[in-house]
Amino acid sequence: MLDSQTIAYDPDYEGPIVSVHGLRNAFGEQVVHDNLDLDVQRGEIIGVVGGSGTGKSVLMRSIIGLQTPQEGEIKVFGEPILGKSDAETIEIRKRWGVLFQGGALFSTLTVAENVMVPIREFYPDMDRDFRREVAKYKVCLSGLSPDAAPKYPSELSGGMRKRAGIARALALDPELLFLDEPTAGLDPIGAAAFDALTKELQQTLGLTVFLITHDLDTLHAICDRVAVLADQRVIAVGTIDELLALDHPWIQEYFNGPRGRMAFAGKKVPA
Ligand SMILES: Nc1ncnc2c1ncn2[C@@H]1O[C@H](COP(=O)(O)OP(=O)(O)OP(=O)(O)O)[C@@H](O)[C@H]1O
Ligand SMILES: [Mg+2]
Repeated sequence: MLDSQTIAYDPDYEGPIVSVHGLRNAFGEQVVHDNLDLDVQRGEIIGVVGGSGTGKSVLMRSIIGLQTPQEGEIKVFGEPILGKSDAETIEIRKRWGVLFQGGALFSTLTVAENVMVPIREFYPDMDRDFRREVAKYKVCLSGLSPDAAPKYPSELSGGMRKRAGIARALALDPELLFLDEPTAGLDPIGAAAFDALTKELQQTLGLTVFLITHDLDTLHAICDRVAVLADQRVIAVGTIDELLALDHPWIQEYFNGPRGRMAFAGKKVPA
């Protein structure tokens, strides 16, 4: 739908969609990542888990270029994201969408206007009416009713705000979607509906999804693989069954503790 004439990248690239090697991030004395490696394959939903403060959001921010690491190499779509010109960076950024932790919608803009923000930023010459049509379509794609488009974020429920955030993340027809704690704060039914939406978008739009979550039900329901952040790096990546076979204490406690066992038994996890 959007103009791709100017995009200069290898359409035949088949390697990892995200590739992080030797990443180091530190804030003063605090080392958040040290020698972190992670590959994300095309078309997968990869869940990223780890205790609070282990650096999941910082990892995402590093991959999308909002946090400059002290060391390491980060490639997205096979292209290094560090050291690019502004024009090259824009071409790569057009190809991903992001739902930040907490949503981060502009409170003074309606849902439709929020969705139009990235369109206006990256395609300033697009006809205004067409921009509105694209925004309306993205609102519907996110599972919101068209009535939500003229509403302000304060007029929406938490679940609707998440969907509005997804609509904005989808604004530029991304190939790669970053979701940071998308089901946090939703009730179990709302969270399951959001999981279903994520899976449907992955399948119908062929998306690759980088999904940070604490939600065991989400991991179980829609993630193809799970990456575990601990000890300043990714200590394991694999299917849940593969992770369950590992002997790491955090992994065992997380997946095999009472909440983990209940989620995997397909029951509701108690609040
Ligand atoms: N801009 C920053 N300046 C200083 N410290 C930061 C900054 N951003 C993150 N940190 C620190 O880095 C660590 C990792 O933060 P991050 O937000 O990535 O954690 P997280 O794994 O996403 O946690 P949560 O599950 O609670 O969202 C935290 O100790 C945080 O305080
Ligand atoms: Mg976080």
